[in-house]
Amino acid sequence: MVNLLEAKNLNLGYGTSEIVRNVDFSIKKGEILGIVGESGSGKSTLLKAIMQLPETGVSITQGDIYFNGKNLNDLTSQEKRVFRGSKIGVIFQNPGSSLNPLKKIKKQFIETIKSHKKLDSKTAYQLSLDTLIKLNFNEPERILESYPFELSGGMNQRVAIAIAMVLKPDLLLADEPTSALDVTIQAQVIDEMMMLRDTFDTAIIIISHNMGVISKMADKIAVMYAGKIVEYGEKNNVIKNHHHPYTKALLGAIPKLDGKRPVGISGRPPTFKANECGCGFAGRCAYCGEQCKLESKNLFMVADNHWTSCVNANGA
Ligand SMILES: Nc1ncnc2c1ncn2[C@@H]1O[C@H](COP(=O)(O)OP(=O)(O)O)[C@@H](O)[C@H]1O
Ligand SMILES: [Mg+2]
Repeated sequence: MVNLLEAKNLNLGYGTSEIVRNVDFSIKKGEILGIVGESGSGKSTLLKAIMQLPETGVSITQGDIYFNGKNLNDLTSQEKRVFRGSKIGVIFQNPGSSLNPLKKIKKQFIETIKSHKKLDSKTAYQLSLDTLIKLNFNEPERILESYPFELSGGMNQRVAIAIAMVLKPDLLLADEPTSALDVTIQAQVIDEMMMLRDTFDTAIIIISHNMGVISKMADKIAVMYAGKIVEYGEKNNVIKNHHHPYTKALLGAIPKLDGKRPVGISGRPPTFKANECGCGFAGRCAYCGEQCKLESKNLFMVADNHWTSCVNANGA
């Protein structure tokens, strides 16, 4: 099966500062890719590049992104606009950044639909209602008649997901969609996104700094550290047979249900301006050898559907 989205040797930056380096990944229809890493590791920068919104300021300094085999670099700005709403849906951490506080939910649905499809308001309303019903919303009519401030934060995020899905995009990009929500609502939003995949065969890229969220949702995982993917592969390989000490550290940092404090990761990630030499994790790594301080490895294959950049911590 051809990849729905594929990034090849992607390097991204803002102005002269290079942030994301040598990134390769792919995702098929209906697949969920989780991207996990500490704050500042370049996760949102990567999603912004896929969104192709010039106002984000992200530029592709090297490499390509292919969607259904088509290079996004070759699209005109008009094609990019069509592509964004109808082929790729986006949800953010804070539903407030995707919902307009001054407009009823139904208006926001209808505007989204009309910006991509030639439908009258009545048909667009019906399509909105059908989407909410399909996504198991209680009282869908009441929700459509509400303003965002009349709904809870969790409900607003569910609505933002429904609006992103109304045109049935092939790919949903979700940047920390549960981080601003209470734990119980988090679980509900995660279940909802997984239902989207089952109902519409939507591929999803979910970003989180929380390995717990990623391990629940993803089919495959990319672990990002200081702008690079340091471990990548099928979920169980990355979680149960991880090769990179940073992956291990992230797994150790998952909040525990038994109330025990998670083990934090000591030290801080390198700054992007640091003169790069050696592995970016070297200063924080218990397995760091002499070579690690001198050389930064790219991903290499350790098993079927499993890549790592650490040579030293075999199965750390
Ligand atoms: N608009 C911007 N201009 C310049 N640098 C930015 C901009 N946005 C983010 N950065 C820098 O890019 C790096 C990665 O940020 P980001 O992709 O937001 O990380 P994450 O989503 O993993 O927390 C950070 O060092 C941040 O300061
Ligand atoms: Mg981010």
